[in-house]
Amino acid sequence: MQPLPPSWYQAIFLRHSRRSFMSRRPEEEKVARLEALCREFHPFPGARAEFVRQSPDVVFKGLLGAYGRITGAFFYVAFIGSENGLNVEEGIGYTGEGVILEATALGLGTCWVSGFFRPEAVKAHLSLAEGEQVFAVTPIGYAERDFTFKDKIYRGLAGSRKRKSLQGICDGRGPEPWQDKALEAARLAPSAANRQPWRFSLDGGSITVRTDGPKDSGRYPKRLDCGIAMLHLELGAAAAGVSGRWVPLRPPEVARFEAQK
Ligand SMILES: Cc1cc2nc3c(=O)[nH]c(=O)nc-3n(C[C@H](O)[C@H](O)[C@H](O)COP(=O)(O)O)c2cc1C
Repeated sequence: MQPLPPSWYQAIFLRHSRRSFMSRRPEEEKVARLEALCREFHPFPGARAEFVRQSPDVVFKGLLGAYGRITGAFFYVAFIGSENGLNVEEGIGYTGEGVILEATALGLGTCWVSGFFRPEAVKAHLSLAEGEQVFAVTPIGYAERDFTFKDKIYRGLAGSRKRKSLQGICDGRGPEPWQDKALEAARLAPSAANRQPWRFSLDGGSITVRTDGPKDSGRYPKRLDCGIAMLHLELGAAAAGVSGRWVPLRPPEVARFEAQK
C-alpha cells in the first residue's frame, strides 16, 4: 500500500463536521484531485468512494422534515460497499475518512452523514454494481466561515466537541511512545452522534480495535466508526515514524494494527 500523505495527519486537527456551505464553487483542480482519490484509493476490498458532480441538496434530510438539512454544498461523495461483505463497514470508514481528510487538507468542508440522507436520491446520480449499497455520504464545498445556528444545534445535540479520555477507551498504556500518538489521533475521529464506540487494547507492538459492544443500529454501524478511527490511528503511528499493517478480525473485534519494524 502507498504511504499515507502526512497532510492527512495535520487535517485530523482541522476537521469538524460542517453543515452550512457558501455559494463559492470549489476550484476544478481540487475537484479533480478528489475525483482521482476516489477512483484510486481502494485499501479494502468491497469498499469504495464515488465523487458526484451534482448538488446534494436533494440527497439530505433534516432533523424534522427539511428543518436543519445540510444545504448549499456544490458536490458530494458517496461511500459505497458490498452488502453483507466481510469487513466491509470498517473498509468504508477507513476509505471514506481518507477522502474527508484530503478534502479538509484542501480547505473544503465535509460531514459524514449515514442517517439523514436518501439512498434512492443518490442512486439516481450514480450506478451501483449488483450487491452494492450506499452506506453514507459527505457534502463537499466551502463551509461558511463561522458555525451557523444550524451547525451549533447539531453540535450541541451530539456533544461534538467532547471526546472520551484515553483511559476510558483503552486497556493499559503503550510501552512504546508511538502508541500514545496513534491513540491520540484515533480519539479525535468523528463517529455517528459522537458516540465514540471504539475501544483499543495494547499488546506489545500492536493495537487491537474493537467495538464497545454488539448493540448496533442499521444506518449507524459501529464498525464503520471503527474504520474511521483505524485510519486516524495509522496516521498517528506514521507521524511517530512507525508504519504497520492491518489484520482483519471477527466481531466484536475489528482489526489489529501490527507495527512493522
Ligand atoms: C458514520 C457517521 C455518521 C454520521 N451521520 C450523521 C448524520 O446522519 N447527520 C449529521 O448531521 N451528522 C452525522 N455525523 C456527524 C457526527 O455527528 C459528528 O462527526 C460528531 O458529532 C463529532 O463531531 P465532529 O465531526 O465535528 O468532530 C456522522 C458521523 C459519522 C462518523
